[in-house]
Amino acid sequence: MDTGYTTVDLAVDMRNLQRTLLHFSEIDSTNRFLLDENDCPGGTVVLADYQSAGRGRFERMWQSPPGDALLFSIVLKEKFCDFSLSVYPLLSAVAVFNGLNSVLPESTRLTVKWPNDLLLNGKKVCGILAQSRMKGSKCEKLVVGIGLNVNQPPEFFRKDLKKATSVFQETGKLWNRFEILKRVLEEMDLLLNILQDSGECSIIQMWQRACDSMGRKIAIDDGRKIVEGIFTGIAEDGALQLNTDSETHIFYAGDVTVVKE
Ligand code: BTN
Repeated sequence: MDTGYTTVDLAVDMRNLQRTLLHFSEIDSTNRFLLDENDCPGGTVVLADYQSAGRGRFERMWQSPPGDALLFSIVLKEKFCDFSLSVYPLLSAVAVFNGLNSVLPESTRLTVKWPNDLLLNGKKVCGILAQSRMKGSKCEKLVVGIGLNVNQPPEFFRKDLKKATSVFQETGKLWNRFEILKRVLEEMDLLLNILQDSGECSIIQMWQRACDSMGRKIAIDDGRKIVEGIFTGIAEDGALQLNTDSETHIFYAGDVTVVKE
């Protein structure tokens, strides 16, 4: 039977993720595949060279030329459904932060940006989309999808993607995608252990350490209003906390920019 994918042995045993990943040369969306497919065990990783209908947040498209980016999703089941779903984008961002930072030159500056992004030298290099499949009111599985811009050439970002970048664009060299993927997955496996042993707060603390806008003045646009204030932290449920002179505001979604003073 033609499954449409080949299998790749990552050659590393992990506690929470499967060591064999499913590799598609083309698929509509790796998130869609894992949300619909019921035969994949928890911890399955699906990688695609190209997505014809890649999904971003807010129903946006996520596009990348064939073979340039890391486009992958991970399905988590059972015990992982008991944690707050909002911890998974944060956990995934820390996994990418640690994994990518371990291979990047020191001259590059990688940070996480609330709620689901990573910036390389101030430009978006990675987006994360966490989705869940519910059975009644119970979470049956959750799927974390990661789009990491690795080898896209600078021309790709010239038109309407000026605030985005790739690792290639920032370092001037092409990268082995599998080397980066393996580092990220190993980090994710470790973080899933930490989540089980110590809970959501420990993951939030790590995310906060990787964020350079904490404690600074930011503006947040939630689509209805723009509020300026000091970004004081992330709450247990993943919400952003912002202090103005008069009150504390809580945001569950929004676009953050640092206010230059
Ligand atoms: C964002 O809007 O910033 C999130 C983008 C997430 C894209 C990734 S690519 C792999 C996975 N499959 C999808 O269809 N989307 C996610």
